[in-house]
Amino acid sequence: MAETNVGEGRRVAIVGAGPTGFYASDQLLGMGFSVDLYDRLPTPFGLVRFGVAPDHPKIKSVTRMYEKTARKDGFRFFGGVAVGEDITCAELRERYHAVLYATGTSSDNRLGIPGEDRPGSYAATRFVAWYNGHPDHHDDAFDLSATRAVVVGNGNVAIDIARMLVLDPDELAPTDTADHALQALAASQVEEVILLGRRGPAQAAFTNPELRELGELSRAAPVVEPGELELDEASRAWLETEAEPTNRRNYELLKEYAERPLGHATHRITLRFLRSPLELLGEGEDGHVTGMRIVHNRIEAGADGSLRAVPTDREEVIPCGLVIRSIGYRGVPFGDLPFDERRGLIRNVGGRVSEDDGTVHPGQYVAGWIKRGPSGVIGTNKKCASESTALIAADAEAGTLPEPTLEPSFEWVRERAPHAIDWEGWLAIDEHEKRLGEESGRPRVKLVTADDLRAASRGALTR
Ligand SMILES: Cc1cc2nc3c(=O)[nH]c(=O)nc-3n(C[C@H](O)[C@H](O)[C@H](O)COP(=O)(O)OP(=O)(O)OC[C@H]3O[C@@H](n4cnc5c(N)ncnc54)[C@H](O)[C@@H]3O)c2cc1C
Ligand SMILES: NC(=O)c1ccc[n+]([C@@H]2O[C@H](COP(=O)([O-])OP(=O)(O)OC[C@H]3O[C@@H](n4cnc5c(N)ncnc54)[C@H](OP(=O)(O)O)[C@@H]3O)[C@@H](O)[C@H]2O)c1
Repeated sequence: MAETNVGEGRRVAIVGAGPTGFYASDQLLGMGFSVDLYDRLPTPFGLVRFGVAPDHPKIKSVTRMYEKTARKDGFRFFGGVAVGEDITCAELRERYHAVLYATGTSSDNRLGIPGEDRPGSYAATRFVAWYNGHPDHHDDAFDLSATRAVVVGNGNVAIDIARMLVLDPDELAPTDTADHALQALAASQVEEVILLGRRGPAQAAFTNPELRELGELSRAAPVVEPGELELDEASRAWLETEAEPTNRRNYELLKEYAERPLGHATHRITLRFLRSPLELLGEGEDGHVTGMRIVHNRIEAGADGSLRAVPTDREEVIPCGLVIRSIGYRGVPFGDLPFDERRGLIRNVGGRVSEDDGTVHPGQYVAGWIKRGPSGVIGTNKKCASESTALIAADAEAGTLPEPTLEPSFEWVRERAPHAIDWEGWLAIDEHEKRLGEESGRPRVKLVTADDLRAASRGALTR
């Protein structure tokens, strides 16, 4: 265990102000390091602001803890500074004893099927960023004129998207959904969302509260055909012996849904399992999506005991005019750091940036989704960050951290990123958004363009 003052006189740059960046900041400040936290956006909090669904405001209150961290001595925030573009990784290495990358995984996995990019088919990453007011996506357009949508994937992101597509405009109105999305979703024609899982109901990756919430919406109801819940032998045995309680509870919930009458619901979320997309079909001049050709799967146990989806020869076409592909996020290569193309992560050994052959880059670390992959809830990143910050402390104690040769001065940041803002700048944006929200009974009205965010920051860092 490192001494609490092991970081004294040493400074760390953290790249990425999502949950991981804040947990790591707090841990390092506690060990006596000073911390500069960089984000390419003027706004902090990563996916807590641009991922977490707007109708889950309680989850977003985790940012109060991050605000406490930001008030601690030794902490500076540089928003609006894209590392790898405005400043290089090499420049950070020259100015800090250690650099910790916590940049998350902003891209999406691909299905790799014909027609995937037809108009009307979108990646979840884009749709989520759009309804949450991400400045890179404020002018994206989504065609919501179809009555049936298919969301591919059986994770919590797929559930968030299905819910957002069928929520009553009255349920969305008091949230911080971006204004452009509030309008578009209110005008949406979508009445049915099919949630498509490649494996069975026993293997769905939903967590229980999220699946339960589908049964509590005001105008929409979950629909499960009883036949969807028939288990093959391998899945039944797995559910009874090896599965997590979450899987068992999910299965029980799905059985409840299968028995439940539709009632007065005008909208539905239909859960279908053991089906994989083969092709997106289209028509018209632009080839807009009109349907999805799918194959039915069966479950097969692999040599390692894992239960995989294996295609059968039974196919089907699901008519639909909107497809959202929610099959996991993916990291993108970053600056001059070694990148594991297969896993979509910065290559690392337990949090130390490393080459393919295990050679470690001294003073370079990773944490969070870009270290271990895009899974886990917000709190999971706290432990992940602590494993990486413990390495920094251990290397500081062992005297193996490189000595910086330059100062990370305000002037340097300002020169490289003229629109950079500091924590005061973010607080000005935050206050502005909350004030706009008060006027309409919402937690905040998000500013969604870089220009508006800059203006609201009152030119922090250049004050
Ligand atoms: C749609 C969605 C909804 C979710 N909802 C929940 C939920 O309800 N509850 C829950 O517990 N978990 C939820 N999660 C999971 C949770 O959001 C993640 O576990 C967590 O955000 C990962 O944290 P991170 O800091 O590693 O990455 P991120 O949150 O992605 O943060 C990475 C940060 O790095 C910045 N960055 C990227 N590149 C650069 C660069 N070049 N220079 C500088 N900065 C850069 C980004 O702007 C971003 O701010 C959700 C995830 C998704 C995708
Ligand atoms: N409210 C919340 O707490 C909340 C909300 C949103 C997100 N999160 C968390 O954020 C993390 C990421 O969520 P996520 O939904 O993006 O990922 P996820 O939980 O990993 O789910 C991904 C889904 O995509 C499926 N999939 C992958 N490749 C596929 C393919 N080629 N074809 C068809 N299906 C495919 C997976 O099926 P297989 O299982 O067969 O691989 C799985 O059902 C998760 O840990 C999640 O819990 C939490």
